Amino acid sequence: MTRRVAVVYGGFSNERDVSVKSGINIAKSLERLGVEVLPFDLKRDTVADLLDVKTDLFFLALHGRFGEDGTIQGMLELAGLPYTGSDSRTSAICFDKEITYRLVDRSVELPVWKRVESDRDVEGWEIFPCVIKPVREGSSIGIHICDDQSILEDRTRELLVAYDSLLLEEYIAGREMTISIIDSKDGPVVLPILEIKPKKRFYDYEAKYIAGLTDFVVPAPVEESVQKSIIEKSVAIYKLLGCRDLSRIDGILNEDTFYFLEVNTIPGMTDLSDLPMSARAMGMTFEDVVGGVVEVAEKRNRR
Ligand SMILES: Nc1ncnc2c1ncn2[C@@H]1O[C@H](COP(=O)(O)OP(=O)(O)OP(=O)(O)O)[C@@H](O)[C@H]1O
Ligand SMILES: [Mg+2]
Repeated sequence: MTRRVAVVYGGFSNERDVSVKSGINIAKSLERLGVEVLPFDLKRDTVADLLDVKTDLFFLALHGRFGEDGTIQGMLELAGLPYTGSDSRTSAICFDKEITYRLVDRSVELPVWKRVESDRDVEGWEIFPCVIKPVREGSSIGIHICDDQSILEDRTRELLVAYDSLLLEEYIAGREMTISIIDSKDGPVVLPILEIKPKKRFYDYEAKYIAGLTDFVVPAPVEESVQKSIIEKSVAIYKLLGCRDLSRIDGILNEDTFYFLEVNTIPGMTDLSDLPMSARAMGMTFEDVVGGVVEVAEKRNRR
């Protein structure tokens, strides 16, 4: 096992607080595995210092922009430094929900969707309820369900102040499912499918990070043939997009049809996060997950 690992967390996206929690959990579990941990809080003014850290591996525990979007991965690639997770290209693709939709279009069912760059783009939209969301964001930040045209127009105008492009899509009613995948030496392993049952209308920021606001069922009670198809589609997407080490695919099961929503290349690792919960359901501890990621990343970098 790698002797020294720098856990990079924090960052300066809207998901900084979540990343701090993921980073602390990852650092603690690496310590329990006997690894020397160098915690690195990424801020604008510490970016350049990252390249001077003397470590065997960078464990990226960042979420959102400048963490999950390929930028930090690109910087480390340029400097020839080894890190965990997908490369800069896959990270950039998966962080952009529109590009991801375009690439997975033939592999899986998608909500009806369109790109929005101005409030004129939502005129004449006929499917309600609908969802308006930033193309590049996470943790449900900026996501709104809209029941009529006037709410849609208001939310669109508000979001366009902070984001230059949005996705407008059909609201898919159904059961929320998330599929965590981790690499092992024998290839990608799909963890038990997790069903997410938010007590609120959808799995928003609070429902994600405040205990008690969401119920979870794992393994999700889904008929075997449906389960098999969700797993096959998820692995196909993981491979198509070139994901590495770990990822989580979110979607909604409507009747027997699985609608794909997105891929997270650095899934949350907080106490309430989905991937660690799915891992526990198959007897894997947090240390097993983190240790496994280090192992596959290490093996890649030895090649
Ligand atoms: N088309 C849709 N139909 C129904 N609900 C949706 C739709 N799109 C998003 N949602 C709701 O919003 C939540 C967040 O959506 P999504 O996973 O696309 O965004 P995110 O902000 O990138 O999330 P993450 O925290 O996983 O990075 C979903 O889990 C779901 O509850
Ligand atoms: Mg999601």
